[in-house]
Amino acid sequence: MAKLLEVKNLDIRLKKGKETIPAVNGVSFSVEKGKTLGIIGESGSGKSLTCYGVMGLLDKKLWDYNGEVYLDGELLDIKDNKKMQKIRGNKIALIMQNPMSAFNPVITIGAHFVETINKTGETKKTKEEIRSKALELMDKMRIRDPEVVYKSYAFQLSGGMLQRIMIALALVSEPELLVADEPTTALDLTVQHEIMNILHGMQKDYETSILIVSHDLGVISHLADDIAVMYGGEFMEKGPAHKILADPEHPYTRGLFSSRPAFSKERLKMMPGSPPRLEERGTGCQFYGRCGERKNGCKEYSPDKGTMISDREVRCLLVDTEETQRKLGA
Ligand SMILES: Nc1ncnc2c1ncn2[C@@H]1O[C@H](COP(=O)(O)OP(=O)(O)O)[C@@H](O)[C@H]1O
Ligand SMILES: [Mg+2]
Repeated sequence: MAKLLEVKNLDIRLKKGKETIPAVNGVSFSVEKGKTLGIIGESGSGKSLTCYGVMGLLDKKLWDYNGEVYLDGELLDIKDNKKMQKIRGNKIALIMQNPMSAFNPVITIGAHFVETINKTGETKKTKEEIRSKALELMDKMRIRDPEVVYKSYAFQLSGGMLQRIMIALALVSEPELLVADEPTTALDLTVQHEIMNILHGMQKDYETSILIVSHDLGVISHLADDIAVMYGGEFMEKGPAHKILADPEHPYTRGLFSSRPAFSKERLKMMPGSPPRLEERGTGCQFYGRCGERKNGCKEYSPDKGTMISDREVRCLLVDTEETQRKLGA
């Protein structure tokens, strides 16, 4: 399978005076053409920072960051805002958690389409061409009465409607990669479901690759072909979705799954406590403090790479030890 996006050793540190505090610790991943990678983890794990890093959206005054990001084999200059702006408008599109904040309150939805289409197109389009393209995209997003919506302002529309419009706007340039950071978190359940179906349908129609981030296992299991489980700025487990969902290897993944369906709202059953703040993170296994299965050596466990178990990578000393013993026994 061809990789559309490949990220190698993305490292993000928060600048604090003369020091820097690690926030994302050299994560590597890829998204295949027409496929979906889901990053899941509790709030504060570094999921959004990872997305911003890939898109070149990190504020250089606040963050020190490094890593290689390849799109279709081409190395992107994630520190060059001008170059990244061009890529963001064309090959990569972003949809965010809060649709309301993505819209300018004083211009109509139609004017947003005019702005976006003019920015992406090579040749200037007429008003009528833009309108019909917008109506076509909104129709694909199952928006009823798109003519009325076209003339409306953001504040007149619901969150679910705005999220659909945001996806329609993202599709204007027919992006190869859609980055969706908690795209359904602000929406109620039925609307969440509709948006996921829309994303799924869109992927079929356009062969778009999707990088989707969520703290919600329902969203991830619905859409992802591959899953990366993030905690404390690291990937605890990464691999094919069906394998991880059926048989999670890492104690963190197991805790996350077992506390479903309400793990975002209630305390995690198997994992009391909450993710550490940046300043509180240790240097060994990030999950050490909350892990019910920790052993000697876990506190210092900090490998460059996780253990490979067939096509899955797991970052856990216990799994590593078991796998080594299995190999020796074989
Ligand atoms: N602007 C910021 N200043 C200081 N710390 C930040 C800032 N943005 C994010 N962080 C910290 O970085 C960590 C990762 O954040 P984030 O990527 O937003 O997590 P997630 O998206 O997984 O919830 C968190 O501990 C968060 O508090
Ligand atoms: Mg986030």
